[in-house]
Amino acid sequence: MKAAVLYEVNKPLVIEEVSVNKPGPREVLIRTKVAGLCHSDLHFMEGLYPWPLPTIPGHESSGIVEQVGSDVTYVQPGDHVVTCLSVFCGTCDMCTTGRPVLCTGTDVKLLPGVANRFNWNKPEKLNQFINLSSFAEQMLVHENAVVKIRKDMPLDLAALIGCGVITGYGAVVNTAKVRPGESVAVIGCGGVGMAAINGAAIAGAGRIIAVDTNPVKLQLATKLGATDLVNPNDGDPVKQVKDKTGGLGVEHAFEVLGAKITAEQAFGMLAPGGTATIVGMIPFGTKIELHGADFLRERRIQGSSMGSNHFRQDMPRLVEFYLNGKLHLDDWVSARIKLSEINEGFANMKAGKTVRSIIEFN
Ligand code: APR
Ligand code: ZN
Ligand code: ZN
Repeated sequence: MKAAVLYEVNKPLVIEEVSVNKPGPREVLIRTKVAGLCHSDLHFMEGLYPWPLPTIPGHESSGIVEQVGSDVTYVQPGDHVVTCLSVFCGTCDMCTTGRPVLCTGTDVKLLPGVANRFNWNKPEKLNQFINLSSFAEQMLVHENAVVKIRKDMPLDLAALIGCGVITGYGAVVNTAKVRPGESVAVIGCGGVGMAAINGAAIAGAGRIIAVDTNPVKLQLATKLGATDLVNPNDGDPVKQVKDKTGGLGVEHAFEVLGAKITAEQAFGMLAPGGTATIVGMIPFGTKIELHGADFLRERRIQGSSMGSNHFRQDMPRLVEFYLNGKLHLDDWVSARIKLSEINEGFANMKAGKTVRSIIEFN
């Protein structure tokens, strides 16, 4: 099969011919249909987060089950699935107390630098990437890394649910638990931020303030439910958000970019009692600075991992939201590309030209 390989950080991906093992007892072999390009891939490709190389990146995908291991009961060949990197064991403390996204079980994971599922004609080991490796024509994953979806759900749009949509929507609905009428600001309106905005609209938020430096993104945000737009190029976004909320600030701010400055802005634009949720991956080793006195008024800051998902429940619901017109996935797709065009796809992401580029496999 063909796969895109990252050999070195800040170097283009290279399309290589590789093969993948037959499924182990609880593994599933998937024919990849669509894979989205997510900014998290780029963070790893730029070396902002460490990962053993060479590897096949990609982690936002859909496909059709081709083969299952001897002990797999959840899916069978022909099932349509969305993958999720939040593979869960089901038995650790985190899983059994309802937080599977923080699963500490190691048996179900393809551990970095340890897992070995690919074969190719080179001496070095080709590493799997965050339990998935979606930039490949086939994926070999644990059965607890997939969710079955309705066959009338288009597989191209379903792929987006696998990371960007669940991450943004889940940050709002699962992590921050936004309630009807509450005010929300979303800093960074790429694929993940758009999902946060759409999620806030589904949750019934009152004011939904989209913050982005790109006017095109802001226009799209309006379509997805933003009630107010803030462009940091027009002045301090914290001040702009406060001005729009009677000087008070918002009850929820979401950082969906992955930078020190925007994380600090998210905290800075909170009303007393408000919560900032950090969704973006802030470069490894970077520290953020907050005004200690702001905590006196019970402001909070928290992380959100993959939208604190329970993906076997959340993703079929997101499919329903799409099919009944509440989740506007059609608006996410800026470009449909081939695997061979993947480097251009990431260049367009870096240039801020796309919400999502998706790779369509034959
Ligand atoms: N203030 C506000 N928005 C900004 C700024 C800024 N200073 N600089 C850039 N942006 C906007 C870009 O214009 C773009 O619309 O942030 C958006 C980032 O979007 P993408 O690159 O598409 O990123 P996305 O895939 O949505 O991921 C965002 O979430 O899960 C994490 O790892 C992921 O850290 C990444 C973040
Ligand atoms: Zn677990
Ligand atoms: Zn992602």
